[in-house]
Amino acid sequence: MTTRKTLPKVELPPDVRLDTLAVRQGLPPSPWGENSEALFLTSSFRQPDAATAAARFANEEDGFIYSRFTNPTVTMMERRLAAMEGTQACIGTSSGMSAILLLGMGLLKAGDHVICSQSVFGSTIVLFGREFAKFGVETSFVSQTDPDEWRRAVKPNTKLLFAESPTNPLTEVCDIRALSAIAKDAGAWLAVDNCFCSPALQRPVEYGADLIIHSGTKYLDGQGRVIAGALCASEALVNEKFVPVMRSAGMSLSPFNAWVVLKGLETLSIRMQAQSERALKLGQWLEQQEQVERVFYPGLKSHPQHELAMAQQSGCGGAVVSFIVKGQTRGGPDQARANAFHVIDSTQVCSITANLGDTKTTITHPASTSHGRLNEAQRQSAGITQGMIRVAMGLDDVLDIQADLQRGLATLPT
Ligand SMILES: Cc1ncc(COP(=O)(O)O)c(C=O)c1O
Repeated sequence: MTTRKTLPKVELPPDVRLDTLAVRQGLPPSPWGENSEALFLTSSFRQPDAATAAARFANEEDGFIYSRFTNPTVTMMERRLAAMEGTQACIGTSSGMSAILLLGMGLLKAGDHVICSQSVFGSTIVLFGREFAKFGVETSFVSQTDPDEWRRAVKPNTKLLFAESPTNPLTEVCDIRALSAIAKDAGAWLAVDNCFCSPALQRPVEYGADLIIHSGTKYLDGQGRVIAGALCASEALVNEKFVPVMRSAGMSLSPFNAWVVLKGLETLSIRMQAQSERALKLGQWLEQQEQVERVFYPGLKSHPQHELAMAQQSGCGGAVVSFIVKGQTRGGPDQARANAFHVIDSTQVCSITANLGDTKTTITHPASTSHGRLNEAQRQSAGITQGMIRVAMGLDDVLDIQADLQRGLATLPT
């Protein structure tokens, strides 16, 4: 893992920038001198002798042992992502959700309290609200956008603040700097799920976050191939809190998936720029459509946190655009849902799938997919209505995606 200080380093000038780190940071090549990083598909590593094996198992000496907790391809991915996020270390996990599981297992114990945005990804709400609750960890869910609510929710036993920005699917943006100040005053950690922006657009540590969560499944892979995750933090946190849990609990990132993400990171920056540009055009077009009630996209001036988003996200809105199809006002939630389904089912280009971050544009109905496991009250507090559709813009031509949505919008029952 990146925490292993004596493993060889890639020698780069100290001031190289994100795009260079994205294609070069990791581990030096093997003795064969490969230019593209090798995939080490091996479960274990041969030890030169029994004494070295004993020293490595006891953590007295660095070296690869067993791929549940040490593998060179995984280390390369971890080092590259840490460099891009601006953290000292990173630990790869089998999925984005297992990164949040590792976060909770590493930092929390029975009797602790967490404050979490009520607008985060549906499974994250379930993990904090139901699964961690089984082990005596209490979570208060608060407004994504009102820092005062977070401050009021602080208790003497608050250990962790958890946010995601922008959120899935409403693209609500939180003020990371303000949340960091609240966390510091409370003596708690601030974790930010940086899935929607990736380090190409937003580096939460620059605004005071202590821990960064990633679903590598999204933009880091970028082509919808693997499930992967990561947790970025200081060396002290990774070494002391997370490596021991990973070693015993084994929510490990497979070397193959790490390799796919590692190569995905090389094109992350240009993909994020290109997909964000297309998403902005799509959002602007949707705003002009008569059958669309409201568009949620941080790059639009109509977005309630537009200015904050532009400052925090390198002037980019990201690639996810959500919108509400007309129908709810007249026909209630059932009509709204039927209208949303009609628009989705009329597409011929978009992939109907709940994943996002792919080069192929994806379309989904959040209320019945990503947020389907929430009860109606939780869905309402997360602002997810039956008429809402989420489009994660890929690298398709935006004119083709507009035409694809127009098929259903133009034929909605009036
Ligand atoms: C914002 C966000 N965080 C975390 C996750 C979970 O990631 P994974 O599917 O890799 O477990 C997702 C998945 O959609 C997500 O959108």
